[in-house]
Amino acid sequence: MKAHRLFLCCAVFLAAAFTVSAAPLKIELPPETAVFKTAPGSEAAMAQCLICHSAEYVSMQPLLTRTAWKATVEKMQKKFGAPLPADQVDALVDYIVKAYGAAPAPVKAPAAPVK
Ligand code: HEC
Repeated sequence: MKAHRLFLCCAVFLAAAFTVSAAPLKIELPPETAVFKTAPGSEAAMAQCLICHSAEYVSMQPLLTRTAWKATVEKMQKKFGAPLPADQVDALVDYIVKAYGAAPAPVKAPAAPVK
């Protein structure tokens, strides 16, 4: 009889414990920052660049010139094996430069010294 009562007691306790843990748990996650900014051209970046790493690899870079961005994208293709079709490189570089900013192209030194 005693064992039966102990069992009942445990059953009630467990039921209570499960009721508490079944209460809806609301978790607020910080906004997703690891994807590319939505803009014309971002679909290619989403499809081609997130295969290996997050968009932060782009957003954390200092301002680069368009030439440097293009070289980076080509490095992803040639050195790291990104399967980005060659005819999408320019459009993708345009998107990155617009969405993430670009350093102005270096100014050429004047041909003759200015007096
Ligand atoms: C096949 C895998 C792969 C794909 C796809 C890929 N990357 Fe990368 N990416 C890498 C690797 C590997 C590194 C170097 C990681 C490290 O040094 O820790 C890297 C680094 C970078 C960096 C950091 C700067 C640098 O030069 O190392 C940038 C910016 C970058 N990737 C941009 C891109 C963009 C834009 C795309 C889309 C066209 C892309 N990646 C697609 C593999 C990839």
